[in-house]
Amino acid sequence: MNKIVVNGGRRLSGEVVIGGSKNAALPLLFGGIATGEVCIFSNLPRVSDVLQTLEILKFLGARIRFLPGGDVRVDYSAVQSGRAPVALTASIRGSTYLLGSMLARFGRAELAAAGGCDFGSRPIDQHLMGFECLGAKVSSNADGVVVEAPNGLCGTVIRLAMPSVGATANLMIAASMARGETVIENAAAEPHVAALAAFLCDAGAEITGVGSDRIRIVGQPELHGTRNVIIPDMIEAGTYLCAGVACGGPVRVRAVCPSHLHPLLNAFREMGVKVETGEHHVTVTAAEPYQNISVVTGPFPAFPTDLHPQMTALFALGGRAEGEGAVTELVWESRFRYTQELCRMGARIDIADRCARITPQALHAAKLRSPDLRGGAALLLAALATKGKSEITNAATIGRGYEHLEQKLRALGAHISVS
Ligand code: UD1
Repeated sequence: MNKIVVNGGRRLSGEVVIGGSKNAALPLLFGGIATGEVCIFSNLPRVSDVLQTLEILKFLGARIRFLPGGDVRVDYSAVQSGRAPVALTASIRGSTYLLGSMLARFGRAELAAAGGCDFGSRPIDQHLMGFECLGAKVSSNADGVVVEAPNGLCGTVIRLAMPSVGATANLMIAASMARGETVIENAAAEPHVAALAAFLCDAGAEITGVGSDRIRIVGQPELHGTRNVIIPDMIEAGTYLCAGVACGGPVRVRAVCPSHLHPLLNAFREMGVKVETGEHHVTVTAAEPYQNISVVTGPFPAFPTDLHPQMTALFALGGRAEGEGAVTELVWESRFRYTQELCRMGARIDIADRCARITPQALHAAKLRSPDLRGGAALLLAALATKGKSEITNAATIGRGYEHLEQKLRALGAHISVS
């Protein structure tokens, strides 16, 4: 997926079946290393970050089989302690989960570099601080980081400086095989953290307090293989709902957990968008123009940072949006690079500190470059809602998180081609 061409300005309506969550899949796939056995994953999204993760696991010795019917069987029994090549780990942030899972299973983990979208500095000091609290020795230099606990990990109380999703997940994996009890204070409560806890519990761990800011883990000498159904991708679902709002709708997303989407749905309601929810679906309709509002990102259940760029795109659409909108980004300091591209379409966006103020303008089609996964999704939304032919290059960044993007948008009536 290199380039997306969109002939925009068409009303989008219909249904989209949402796939498994990328952000849940990565910690589970890496966390499976700690089991040392066979795990079978259903609803695993075939997005490039997941395929890359499977390559990393294969390099480390895992045997992977795509089963008829779509499940993926990962046999972790032959995984060896070692360093995955930087060429594989550098492009996905999820490779940091190698630290917690390798440490749990082998008492030693190393990582050359972990990547992901470029939002400025993406430190892992809280992960490393937690490993040290569990009794590991951490050494890092320009070549990467090594974490060692030859005599095993010891349960303790770890207080995170902020509710980091990555640190909570990594420490939960490591603590699942530590001696005794670990408490993570100021823990993240995202649905993908809860999904990892459920996976680890099915594998034999004892974890309580998930969804609160205090997670308690009683370590086990061994974990065992298990089956898991990956939870629905709330960010994919949110993006298609935003497409429905941008392009009129009604758009229904199916196979979702509406409770995970509450922050977005509350924002839509405040904007005057019609929202209808069922047990596993959500429908939005925005036949009339909607009112711009103010959103502030933060740890769950606050507004998700991964839906912030899509909201900016909605707020920018003259003729659809009314009034000034504001998006304040409190999770990542440098997540506004995509706004420069929106401005190439004629958007008016003023950024001061961590807040973007958006005044709707009539946008025009343009040639755009996707800077990162969700920033690229925002450009796509703007292109879909704007008359004329827009092109988005560097579209592989978008392919990292959206499975069957072209087919799903075409089913809603979009004129789109992906090459
Ligand atoms: C974050 C999001 C997650 C999203 C992902 C990809 C939050 C809380 N987390 O997860 O929902 O799917 O980005 O966009 O919204 N931090 C440190 N030191 C650390 C770890 C984190 O300072 O060791 C800081 C980060 O710089 C950032 C904040 O904590 O400002 C949240 O980071 P974290 O939740 O760990 O990021 P991800 O796990 O990538």
